[in-house]
Amino acid sequence: MDLYEYQARDLFESYGVPVLAGIIADTPAEARAAAEKLGGVVVVKAQVKVGGRGKAGGVKVAKNPDEAEEAAQAILGLDIKGHVVKRVMVAAGARIAAEYYFSVLLDRANRSYLSLTSFEGGMEIEQLAVEKPEALARIEVDPSVGITLAKAKEIAVAAKFPADLVDKVAPVFVKLYEVYTGEDATLVEVNPLVLTEEGDIVALDGKVSLDENAAFRHPNHEALEDKAAADPLEAKAKALDLNYVKLDGQVGIIGNGAGLVMSTLDVVAYAGENHGGVKPANFLDIGGGASAEVMAAGLDVILGDPQVKSVFVNVFGGITACDAVANGIVSALEILGDAATKPLVVRLDGNNVEEGRRILNEANHPLVTLATGMDEGADKAAELAAR
Ligand SMILES: Nc1ncnc2c1ncn2[C@@H]1O[C@H](COP(=O)(O)OP(=O)(O)O)[C@@H](O)[C@H]1O
Ligand SMILES: [Mg+2]
Repeated sequence: MDLYEYQARDLFESYGVPVLAGIIADTPAEARAAAEKLGGVVVVKAQVKVGGRGKAGGVKVAKNPDEAEEAAQAILGLDIKGHVVKRVMVAAGARIAAEYYFSVLLDRANRSYLSLTSFEGGMEIEQLAVEKPEALARIEVDPSVGITLAKAKEIAVAAKFPADLVDKVAPVFVKLYEVYTGEDATLVEVNPLVLTEEGDIVALDGKVSLDENAAFRHPNHEALEDKAAADPLEAKAKALDLNYVKLDGQVGIIGNGAGLVMSTLDVVAYAGENHGGVKPANFLDIGGGASAEVMAAGLDVILGDPQVKSVFVNVFGGITACDAVANGIVSALEILGDAATKPLVVRLDGNNVEEGRRILNEANHPLVTLATGMDEGADKAAELAAR
């Protein structure tokens, strides 16, 4: 889960990372009030989960409350790379002497953490990495040791900070690493980390991604989630504890086991090429215990997607045998009643498959077609979606 800048700012503050005062505002009037409260020069900043807000006109300096109101007026509603601004942060204005870059992230390929740091900030990191790779220090961070003060100094030196600044930035790197591990983040990025005219080091912009697999350790993270911005179907699936990802196609997919569902997506996409280019509409793994409730919940989410024209249920009976799955489908259709409106192609295989097929044949539901193989089922579902 990615955080908004103001949420990252608040987290930084709670860990003692130096940040400037900031107040969020949802209307120009609130922005004016915030500027009055902060006093002096402020910066009105679009709160969207995308970089490059400055260049897109989403960061504006305001010398007084009038200008802050005007800036908010201009920024609210702005479309920045497909993200519409609904909220701004009014931040105290910094007098910037120099801009730096610091990040620590999960380096999956090397099963380690990585710190990327540069004395030359003010540029997007992707651009810096391409145009001036020598200015970007890539230092591996051993997760079992972390960024100690000594390690932080090593990073600062590698990033070509002059000696007097090394002692100033190193403690900030240590604190940012504490945010990273303390919150189970996969990314903490500060761009820019600035040196002010007053000689202070301040994190002016923050980007934090939290590891959702660690959510159980952080009950406070749930409040950081922007439920209104989430895809409504994904939000519904999440509330039902389903492993669902919305895609941009017409064939709804339900399967058990992530591997089987992934290959079902491939097979359906392939079959779709022969039927006007229809594609899978989602990923949905109902897991091992395909009970009637889980099946009903899954079908309910998928049938709620207006793009879906047909559904392919592809289940391999294991611990939960095919007869249980078949009963699950039959009762799911009963639970859904009139809400079930789209054709279902069901392919069962594995444990107790004969009994599973018998149950579905006997139920003889008008929406259900049985398929014997995966390819055949995918083809049938694609054909029904294309009709
Ligand atoms: N509080 C602030 N005071 C002064 N300048 C700021 C402030 N916040 C941002 N800026 C300036 O605006 C630039 C872009 O802002 P930033 O928060 O990094 O947004 P983004 O990375 O999305 O463009 C910064 O590099 C900095 O020069
Ligand atoms: Mg930035």
